[in-house]
Amino acid sequence: MAGDGVKGAAGDTRRAVTVAEALRAGAAKIEAAHSQSPRLDAELLLAEALGLRREDLFAAPERALDRDEAARFEAFVRRRQKQEPVAYILGRRAFRTIELEVDDDVLIPRPETETLVEVCLERLAGLDVAEPLVLDIGTGSGAIALALAAENPAVRVIGTDVHPVPLDVARRNVRALGLEDRMSLLAGDVFDDLPPGLRFDLIVSNPPYVTPEALRRLRVEVRGFEPYVALRAGDGGMEFYRRIVPQAPAWLVPGGWLAVEIAEHKAVEVITEFVAVGRYEQIDVRDDLGGLPRVVVARERAAGVAPSVSRADAAALEAALDDAHTGARPVAPDG
Ligand SMILES: C[S@@+](CC[C@H](N)C(=O)[O-])C[C@H]1O[C@@H](n2cnc3c(N)ncnc32)[C@H](O)[C@@H]1O
Repeated sequence: MAGDGVKGAAGDTRRAVTVAEALRAGAAKIEAAHSQSPRLDAELLLAEALGLRREDLFAAPERALDRDEAARFEAFVRRRQKQEPVAYILGRRAFRTIELEVDDDVLIPRPETETLVEVCLERLAGLDVAEPLVLDIGTGSGAIALALAAENPAVRVIGTDVHPVPLDVARRNVRALGLEDRMSLLAGDVFDDLPPGLRFDLIVSNPPYVTPEALRRLRVEVRGFEPYVALRAGDGGMEFYRRIVPQAPAWLVPGGWLAVEIAEHKAVEVITEFVAVGRYEQIDVRDDLGGLPRVVVARERAAGVAPSVSRADAAALEAALDDAHTGARPVAPDG
């Protein structure tokens, strides 16, 4: 490990540790602390300690670490051994095409949420609107809103969060990505504090959806470091769907879209919520890259149309039921 040898100390005859040796020893320590990706973690942390890109490490396996570099790497590995997520140690996380500042006041954006962004981009592309207006409820780091604005240059986004501290992180991300012109942030509790009269072409949310019981079973990496307010939901994990799904039609333009991320075992319950409101059509479920149901999306049905379960709604419900009945699913997302 890095502490086995450093160069640069006067009179110090110990051999400096190389990149390859540091990676091997660091990964072994991180593995012993139950990381699911010890080698990758070690590479990311060593690259950060050396001020290099990860791929640069592979070109220089014999490069020797100096005393400061070795000390920095050791400190990072010690934090990772305590199961602190790599993203919090680095202070950033890649998400689709962008990189976001993150700290322990915000949820670390998950690969599953990239699927939610994908679904939103597809629905936006199908709209005949010059500058679609999007609302991202519970924006946290700003991940969803910023990814949408970055990948669709016509879109304008409002990101809201009930907690002021994540909004500070989101504000820094908006500035760092130069998206101030097309993204605004508001403090607010779901729809309660929005200026009346706003109408959105698309509303998206990755709300808290972990029950308190499931939260206790999550890995230390999640439950010990990530903000509970970003994870925990009452009402059997349904708290936010039972607020967002019935209220969203009043905030959508006719034919606007609502897309929400879900826990993989909640598809049936969430679709049932959409159907019960009687104001949605084209209800659909999308799997994430791991093949688990992750997104429910639906289109607002213009008011006045008789509420009924359309063929598409019924098919979506049936597919979700099939999914729920096949294969064991993990209890809760832990990224
Ligand atoms: C699961 S995190 C999602 C963060 C980010 N959108 C993402 O996908 O990475 C949920 C977010 O909802 C926020 N939140 C919790 N309760 C809320 C409420 N009542 N109204 C608005 N936002 C809320 C949390 O602060 C947190 O940032």
